[in-house]
Amino acid sequence: MLEVEDVRVSYGTTRAVQGMGLSVGAGEAVCLIGPNGAGKTSLLAAISGMESAGGSFRFDGEDVSRLSSFQRARRGIVLVPEGRRVFADLTVHENILVGATSVRKRPMRFRPDDAYDIFPALTRLRNRRGGLLSGGEQQMVALARGLLGSPRLLMVDEPSLGLAPAVCKQVYGALEHIAGEVALLIVEQNTNDALRLCERGYVAAGGRIVLSGTSAELADREALVETFLGTRDLGNRAEAIPTTEGLEGSREQEESR
Ligand SMILES: Nc1ncnc2c1ncn2[C@@H]1O[C@H](COP(=O)(O)OP(=O)(O)O)[C@@H](O)[C@H]1O
Ligand SMILES: [Mg+2]
Repeated sequence: MLEVEDVRVSYGTTRAVQGMGLSVGAGEAVCLIGPNGAGKTSLLAAISGMESAGGSFRFDGEDVSRLSSFQRARRGIVLVPEGRRVFADLTVHENILVGATSVRKRPMRFRPDDAYDIFPALTRLRNRRGGLLSGGEQQMVALARGLLGSPRLLMVDEPSLGLAPAVCKQVYGALEHIAGEVALLIVEQNTNDALRLCERGYVAAGGRIVLSGTSAELADREALVETFLGTRDLGNRAEAIPTTEGLEGSREQEESR
């Protein structure tokens, strides 16, 4: 469904993404994990067309690299951004409806009622202003708004950031529900919930994909993954760690460098 290769994003002299590639199949849930500054958000911005980028972007076999973010949204590539960006002055219901802006003549795959079914906690908050919501409630609104955009691929940037474990569980419960219907690309710094939800994952560090494999493989290599997620400078270490054999895709990455 989504295939991106050799993606490059720069901000002035900062090379945030230096040749990342990944794929998400129809109906698949895939995670991208990695430390702060790895280039995850920049990669999502490139895929959604919000940041100009080099590389190849295919969605359902179509080259979407020259399409605007709006045109990509209409193809069904929908991003739930980092930090949620819930409008403080709009009510929960109004915030959710904003998500339908890009849908226009396409068939609506999710209606507001579906969003309230998936996030029952939002039902009683329907008329509350966005600015009065907790972080977890805002995350649910952001996800519900994403669903109203009729996604075929929903990309979610750090859904658990700043949430208490119990709230995080609630959000991931909803994502599990969504996963049955829509392809997911989940970006996380916290690995556990993401690996439990997703079949497959990639690890990013220093603007590159440094590991990939099934969630079981990545969980088995917890120590290794933690090295990549650690606080030390990963820019050079990523290439120095030689224990990526056996992980599907990692050799490809090696060769494409
Ligand atoms: N708008 C921007 N302008 C300049 N530098 C940026 C911008 N956004 C991100 N960066 C830099 O690009 C790198 C990757 O950032 P980002 O994609 O946000 O990583 P992640 O989401 O993995 O934390 C970081 O070094 C960050 O400081
Ligand atoms: Mg980020």
